[in-house]
Amino acid sequence: MSACFWVFTTLYLYTSNASPITGISSSKTIESLATNQQLYDGETLVSPDQRFELGFFCPSNPCKDVKFLGIWYKNIAPTTVVWVANRKRPIRRTSSGVHLMLDDYGVFVIQDGSKRVIWRSPPKNYSPSVGRKPVLQLLQSGNLVVRDCDINLSCGGYIWESFNHPSDTLLPGMELSLDYGSRLRYRAITSWRKKDDPSDGDFKFGFDRSVQAPQLVLTKENGVRLSRWGPWDGQKFSGMNSLMDNPILSPTLRFDNDQVSLKFEALNRSILLRLVLSPLGSLQFLWWKSKNEGWITILTLNKDNCDRIGSCGPYGICYSDDPSCRCLEEGFMAISSVDWCGFECSSGCKRKNDLNCTAGDGFLKYEQMKLPDNSSVWGALSINECENKCAKECSCMAYTSLNMYGNGSIICVVWLNDLIDLRTVHGGGNDIYIRMSHIELDSIIHKTKRKKVIWVASIVLLSTIITCALLLIIIVRYFTMLKRSKTRALEQEQSPLTEFGGSQEEDSDCRVFELDEIATATNNFCTSNEIGSGGFGRVYKGELPRGEEVAVKRLAESSWQGIREFKNEVTLIAKLQHRNLVKLLGYCIEGNERILVYEYLSNHSLDHIIFDQFKKRLLMWDNRFKIIKGVAKGLLYLHDDSRLRVIHRDLKASNILLDSEMNPKISDFGLARILASEKGETTNRVIGTHGYMSPEYIMNGHFSTKSDVYSFGVLALEIISGKKNWGFQHPDHNLNLLGHAWKLWTEGRSSELMEPVLGDSIIQEDEIVKCIHIGLLCVQKQPEDRLTMSEVVNILQGEHCINVRQPDEPGFFAGRSMMGLGFSTTAERNLESVNEVTMTTISGR
Ligand SMILES: *[C@@H]1O[C@H](CO)[C@@H](O)[C@H](O)[C@H]1NC(C)=O
Ligand SMILES: *[C@@H]1O[C@H](CO)[C@@H](O)[C@H](O)[C@H]1NC(C)=O
Ligand SMILES: *[C@@H]1O[C@H](CO)[C@@H](O)[C@H](O)[C@H]1NC(C)=O
Ligand SMILES: *[C@@H]1O[C@H](CO)[C@@H](O)[C@H](O)[C@H]1NC(C)=O
Ligand SMILES: *[C@@H]1O[C@H](CO)[C@@H](O)[C@H](O)[C@H]1NC(C)=O
Repeated sequence: MSACFWVFTTLYLYTSNASPITGISSSKTIESLATNQQLYDGETLVSPDQRFELGFFCPSNPCKDVKFLGIWYKNIAPTTVVWVANRKRPIRRTSSGVHLMLDDYGVFVIQDGSKRVIWRSPPKNYSPSVGRKPVLQLLQSGNLVVRDCDINLSCGGYIWESFNHPSDTLLPGMELSLDYGSRLRYRAITSWRKKDDPSDGDFKFGFDRSVQAPQLVLTKENGVRLSRWGPWDGQKFSGMNSLMDNPILSPTLRFDNDQVSLKFEALNRSILLRLVLSPLGSLQFLWWKSKNEGWITILTLNKDNCDRIGSCGPYGICYSDDPSCRCLEEGFMAISSVDWCGFECSSGCKRKNDLNCTAGDGFLKYEQMKLPDNSSVWGALSINECENKCAKECSCMAYTSLNMYGNGSIICVVWLNDLIDLRTVHGGGNDIYIRMSHIELDSIIHKTKRKKVIWVASIVLLSTIITCALLLIIIVRYFTMLKRSKTRALEQEQSPLTEFGGSQEEDSDCRVFELDEIATATNNFCTSNEIGSGGFGRVYKGELPRGEEVAVKRLAESSWQGIREFKNEVTLIAKLQHRNLVKLLGYCIEGNERILVYEYLSNHSLDHIIFDQFKKRLLMWDNRFKIIKGVAKGLLYLHDDSRLRVIHRDLKASNILLDSEMNPKISDFGLARILASEKGETTNRVIGTHGYMSPEYIMNGHFSTKSDVYSFGVLALEIISGKKNWGFQHPDHNLNLLGHAWKLWTEGRSSELMEPVLGDSIIQEDEIVKCIHIGLLCVQKQPEDRLTMSEVVNILQGEHCINVRQPDEPGFFAGRSMMGLGFSTTAERNLESVNEVTMTTISGR
């Protein structure tokens, strides 16, 4: 983790300059390198059209202690390196007189002034004939080649070419390939370790050596498979339509029995295009648009969570339009007992009726699917032969047939294990036939028959029903109005809790509202009732017929994100009941409307008070201490005490609401996740709010209870100081609030962090110091060093000063000016849009 943090800070530092790579001002350029020549540091070899350049470069700026030999685009700033020769053997700064030299046998060598070899290209099976010599040339394509030439530089074939030894970049014309005979001879791209370190990184992209049909796979450290696309169906890799229908590039796949290879060309050869695997594992096609716009991302191959292998478990289907896992439509159900199989749910699905191979199973056709992982090839068989063979083999779970070679031969492809990594691909998926028990198939047939009957019946009855319905509505309206006026009178004496809380069953603690009812309560969503708005929609104050005040959160129409957040929030909050969590009274789904109804909290959100010049006086130390304790208890309930382990992920001052007695309640569960394990989980969609996100979450998308603890620490320090962490400025230094607090702590002046207006009242300085101590223990760099929420609550409730360890340096302590840079440079964004931080700026109610 400390290494990760180091990377992170260095990334920031380097992106502050336009280029992480030291620009090379070449003193001399040459067009080819013959055996008696040397290419010294500072000189470059250029391609005939001046597009590419080979030379020594420094991966960091300012240049640190290592250099490499590589190829980059000649006329592009920042320097964009596309190939590195000596990835594993960097040139140390201490070496002098470093140069590149080609020997008589076509091997080229990097050596220093005293002829010590630093790196050499692999030996070739070549010795020149009379009158010919090897020559090193950089071709227009960016391919560095050793050729066999005569004295007039009329050259023959390639003895060696860099295109056969890719780095992290695939240029047009360069191939990924796999030899199915040996399985070892394969060409893949490997990411750099870090932005400023070209040595081999963790990520690798190429053909999948573990399956028989051509399939692309992205792996991370130790070869763990991360994403995959395939098998090849003759036209596309199943599930990777975007690559094939692209207006800018055209891929070509060559496949025969022994070998498969994939390359791409730019449709307009004069543009610059490359596929790069970034140090953080995103796979992107980039296009050099112009000097001002820089590298534009045309296509990200692993763009969403559904691109991760098995994100929905066996027989689960991943949906990216409304991202969540669902089970295959017929015959399957979620393994986990909870019905809300959310996005991170990976336990998958199981059959409703078990298979019975001896009694004979059947197959059900699913259309427009991304085919599952781990396929096996059973050779050229007709579709019927394929089905029969699969039916006989009890472990055969599914089959399909593909015109894999593109020559009309129908190949039978089967799956012999549980089906993993399915998703629906509208308008470009493949058909797959999945094994089902006869009981299931019969019931499906029965169901469809019944559906038909129902259809006919309903059409016949429709006219009658309409008439009846109209009549009914009138009658019901009349009676409900009558009933409402009666109950209103009754309720005035009773506690308002009876309808939603306590005595009622848990299942019914969430009520469904009608849109009419809500519209009336909020004066038709009148702007004067609006009490907040944000990325997901607007929040209104409303009044129910009985006079009960509610906060109505109306999610923005057409916001897919909003819908996801909506489901999340309803299912989550309905299950959570705690004094320090805002209570969900009910919800409404009608047409495009998605509305949540909460208890109304008269003092709005904490940020409206503590960061407000005048209102901050409303909260003196006693109240602030109570709020810190309340939030801690609410969070402890989420983490440990509720039936589920919930990570809030967006804890911040604007999500703490205050009731009339300034009791805090945590709100906004739109980003919350239920965790199965204590260790936490990793996501590609890093969403949160500036200043509150922990380093491991921003860096790796890793979230756990400890990332909430981090946010809690930030919040506690904000409550004590009355200052925002994000945007904090201090005349004396460039630290953020955490850095400032830590600086004061190490100097023994921590109580100076206190909000000055608190000095007007009686304060317990030891309580303040205790809270600062807790805050600092919560924002430490290493998640494992941070306190747990139960420790926090224990310390807060303890009478005595804490007898715990001293805090370490906080996660982020550099000020905003440095923090802001990382994600705002286009170069960074292009490379890492998978891990791009989408900041939400929802203001609370
Ligand atoms: C090189 O070029 C010269 C003049 O153009 C010619 O006389 C000579 O034969 C050529 N040598 C070879 C090996 O082709
Ligand atoms: C199609 O190509 C494959 C692999 O090259 C070969 O084995 C097969 O016989 C071919 N089929 C036809 C019908 O040509
Ligand atoms: C190819 O790209 C170049 C440079 O962007 C442009 O000038 C040219 O018109 C393009 N050619 C075609 C056929 O689109
Ligand atoms: C499978 O079906 C056969 C014949 O219908 C029956 O005898 C057997 O008990 C079934 N097996 C299971 C595990 O249900
Ligand atoms: C893939 O299939 C093989 C047998 O065909 C099996 O041994 C292996 O465990 C499977 N791998 C996964 C990840 O399911």
